[in-house]
Amino acid sequence: MIEQSFHAIYGTMPEVVVRAPGRVNLIGEHTDYNDGFVLPAAIDRSIEFAGRRRSDRVVRVHSVDFAASVEFSLDDIQKDGKNSWSNYIRGVSKYLEEDGHRLSGADLVFGGDVPREAGLSSSAAVEVGAAAFWKNLLHLEVDPVYLVKLSRKAENQFVGVPCGIMDQFISALGRKNHALFLDCRALSFRHVPLRDDVKIVVCNSGVKRALAQSEYEVRLKQCRQAVAQIASTGLAGKSLRDLTPEDLEAARSVFSGILFRRARHVVTENYRVLEAVNVLESGDLMRFGELMNASHESLRDDYEVSSRELDVLVELARKQPGVLGARMTGAGFGGCTVNLVRQEAAESFAEAVRRGYQNALGLKAEIYICKASQGALDI
Ligand code: GLA
Repeated sequence: MIEQSFHAIYGTMPEVVVRAPGRVNLIGEHTDYNDGFVLPAAIDRSIEFAGRRRSDRVVRVHSVDFAASVEFSLDDIQKDGKNSWSNYIRGVSKYLEEDGHRLSGADLVFGGDVPREAGLSSSAAVEVGAAAFWKNLLHLEVDPVYLVKLSRKAENQFVGVPCGIMDQFISALGRKNHALFLDCRALSFRHVPLRDDVKIVVCNSGVKRALAQSEYEVRLKQCRQAVAQIASTGLAGKSLRDLTPEDLEAARSVFSGILFRRARHVVTENYRVLEAVNVLESGDLMRFGELMNASHESLRDDYEVSSRELDVLVELARKQPGVLGARMTGAGFGGCTVNLVRQEAAESFAEAVRRGYQNALGLKAEIYICKASQGALDI
């Protein structure tokens, strides 16, 4: 498919094809930028890149999804205000060059089926896809985690979106039929097998995440403030990751305003992830589902990043037979919910939620029954 697009644009066949998946986070939301724990899975929706070397320093990029092309020189990589879709690739290329990896000019085409602005990390997939493309084209001898960090840097510093490391990490290092348990401080990780008698069902609310960036920045600041306030109690750590739920309750009076609730979400969510990994490994999916449900409540009430549409999807989901757990996933304020559903119930679940959502809000939900898939840089 992507090879054909390449051929149609450039009239030759590509040298290299790579694929970087989107992701869904099973549990561990708004914990990554607090040095905490996350448990995402890569999904079977991805961004593909096809390309070949040129003999000069020019990079030509065609986006199948935007039906548009750009061209830039590796000697002067600037942000593109008009074709902003190209900035992920520009950023990754720029930071590789800055780190001393001399790139060559290239012709490339990219596109895929990760829905945009749906909270399934299409931008991380573009960054990681670009990094994997350069690695494979030029046989760069680099560690995958280095490329993950570089991809995040492209998002944070070049594109200008503050995000944690989860999305790039899972797009690079996800594994087929597994979730990935990641410690976002140590960057140590472990793949946790997912059973095939339960399905990960993603419900896309169809609501674009309008407030996502500004509110995300507010939450980031609030977490930092909470850490600063608790420093006065002697319980100080570098981040909310360092607190236990008991520490937090004991220090409740030092927090001003809503900071206690913000901190409580992060602290309890980290503990939920740890328990979720244990119960997933021991096969207790009922408990796993309860933890997902508790995560949603905490995101809705303490962290306040859910939305009416996401809450409706979650409430509908929990009424369906075969559902183990349902929660919003990703940054919030729109985007998707993630549901764990027994395999035999998955199709009827999807149909019932679609119908219920239409009846309740007059909106169309897209529903994806996902397979956990391979990351772009997993060996
Ligand atoms: C977005 C960010 C991630 C993470 C989630 C919330 O997806 O890109 O780094 O913070 O929100 O868990």
